[in-house]
Amino acid sequence: MSISFRQPGTRLVGKVVVVTGAAQGIGEATARAVAAEGAVVACLDLQADAARQVAESLPSSGCLGIGLDVADEDDVVRAIAEVRDRLGGIDVLINVAGIAGPQHRAGETPVDEWDRTQAVNLRGTFLMAKHCLPDLVARRGNIVNVASALALVGWPQESAYGPSKAGVVQFTKAVALDYAPDVRSNCVCPGAVRTPMITSVLRDHPDPDAALADYGSIHPLTGRLAEPVEIAQAIVFLASDDASFVTGVALPVDGGFTAT
Ligand SMILES: NC(=O)c1ccc[n+]([C@@H]2O[C@H](COP(=O)([O-])OP(=O)(O)OC[C@H]3O[C@@H](n4cnc5c(N)ncnc54)[C@H](O)[C@@H]3O)[C@@H](O)[C@H]2O)c1
Repeated sequence: MSISFRQPGTRLVGKVVVVTGAAQGIGEATARAVAAEGAVVACLDLQADAARQVAESLPSSGCLGIGLDVADEDDVVRAIAEVRDRLGGIDVLINVAGIAGPQHRAGETPVDEWDRTQAVNLRGTFLMAKHCLPDLVARRGNIVNVASALALVGWPQESAYGPSKAGVVQFTKAVALDYAPDVRSNCVCPGAVRTPMITSVLRDHPDPDAALADYGSIHPLTGRLAEPVEIAQAIVFLASDDASFVTGVALPVDGGFTAT
């Protein structure tokens, strides 16, 4: 499905933007969208080589690709120090890195998989924010986190992922209140998006194509999955001065799913 992004603009010219999870999916689309608005982008991901490839393919000069595990504080500190050294500081942090976690009923969910889901999705979001905030305060920047529509509604067999993303929504709001007026903090709550994450979740399904179509049908607006760029467009809005009076919001980008 081809969704065209609006003409490249100038909304992030002169800004250094850190995007986690930038190697693929929504993170890659976000890195491309913020670069198209003039940002210099630091692409951070567990997949270091893929992050570097995305960075090298971006139109702005100076973009970096760096490997890290967002759940590991030493990795986070090292990666942010490298961005600071090479790009001079950070204006915008966009936390996209995340994992789907286990799909089991709560009682059958392995404890280590539940812990890892919280560690990547929630602790990783916290660690990145904690260590970027000195720059964001100094430069009156902002944070955009990627939560999920499943932070807002319950879903069967999501007792690890749903709570991790609900935590991201609450963390977003806490930061917005702690750091006003210096730093805005917002998140998006996507519906189902066509990325490697969703295809890997459905890999073991007896009929993956039918399951994918079922996911599409949860969105009243379109009856299809979102494309990554459709989430990236909302992230760019929140990251830019177009959202100068917006903080503490959890914006559904879900084709009306949570309106039902
Ligand atoms: N795809 C969807 O339907 C959907 C819906 C709602 C929310 N989301 C959220 O959007 C974000 C991106 O999802 P996606 O669908 O693009 O997923 P994806 O699996 O395609 O991409 C996720 C990226 O994050 C990276 N990553 C994973 N763990 C990491 C870690 N510990 N440290 C650093 N990088 C790590 C991966 O290497 C990958 O490049 C996630 O937070 C996800 O929960 C996705």
